[in-house]
Amino acid sequence: MNILSIETSCDETSVCISNDLDIKSLFISSQIALHSQYFGVVPELASRAHIENINFVIKQALDKAKISFDSFSSKIDAVSFTVGPGLAGALLVGALAAKTLSFVYKKPLIPVHHIEGHLYSSFIENGIVNPPFLGVIVSGGHTELIIVEDFGKYTLLGATRDDAAGEAFDKAAKMLGLSYPGGPVIDKKAQKGNPDAIAFTRPYLKDSWDFSFSGIKTALLNYLKKNPLKGENHLNDICASFRQSISETISFKAFEAAKKYNLKKIAMGGGVCANSLIRKMFETLAKKNKMKLYMPSLLYCGDNAAMIGIAAYLKQKKYGLKFGETQLKPSPSLILENW
Ligand code: KG4
Ligand code: ZN
Repeated sequence: MNILSIETSCDETSVCISNDLDIKSLFISSQIALHSQYFGVVPELASRAHIENINFVIKQALDKAKISFDSFSSKIDAVSFTVGPGLAGALLVGALAAKTLSFVYKKPLIPVHHIEGHLYSSFIENGIVNPPFLGVIVSGGHTELIIVEDFGKYTLLGATRDDAAGEAFDKAAKMLGLSYPGGPVIDKKAQKGNPDAIAFTRPYLKDSWDFSFSGIKTALLNYLKKNPLKGENHLNDICASFRQSISETISFKAFEAAKKYNLKKIAMGGGVCANSLIRKMFETLAKKNKMKLYMPSLLYCGDNAAMIGIAAYLKQKKYGLKFGETQLKPSPSLILENW
């Protein structure tokens, strides 16, 4: 099945053409340059940029897959799009573009929950991972542990009570005078620092699978008040210690959950999954616990339409192609529901 997929939930305008699990073309237009001066995504600016970019991005993805608007009808079987959660205005742009293509070319629409895209993003390069497995989603907006019992059958074990992991990296970077997004910058500086230099808390939240990263952020703020930055080595040590705390917390809780629920496979997704220490820790712990680990490569960690295409493919395989109007309505706070 050939699917054209659209992702516009946050600050990436992305379109993908896929054939089942095979990615024919993927185009991602990032708005990082636009938002970096504000140290975070400005929703109104994001919506405007999606509107400016969406036609161009659709055209680029089609061109790369050697599909023209004339051959669209014969070459594309369905159109999928991120229906939520995300920024309201941003979601609307992708939904409108998808609905227009669906209306003009008379193609069925497949709505996809953004988290489902991240959950299945590692399938692009690894092939289908058969459930059950533990889904570990770590991004700028989400930090969640989800048991995938079957495709479309989920149990949410825990989520962040305050900041998402990526958000914590982004806010820490701002405090340290570093650029946005903070995750990649802190990751890079951390590689030259001492992870044991500062003992930031490890918020394990005993007896809960939830996360809470706002405490580490406050600990950093308090530390900086008492110990103003004094040069590059000091900055590297802070980055390394901060990254260590977040990475240990996520990996400890994920593997405890996998052990507790007797899950032998872990699939990761989300922008923070690009973190070099988190990747290393998960690889080491998976080996130690004899579990299989599936991670997307860096290209597919962050928001992209290819992961939406994979989730859409799995969804239509199980569910068919008929979705009610309410399921096609973009929703900023959409809950991950079972199909
Ligand atoms: O998945 P994503 O592109 O967007 C959301 O759905 O939120 O994730 C973006 C987040 C940002 O907060 C960014 O700082 C973080 O992913 N990120 C990283 C790294 N690369 C991106 N965090 C830690 N280490 C990285 N290497
Ligand atoms: Zn995302």
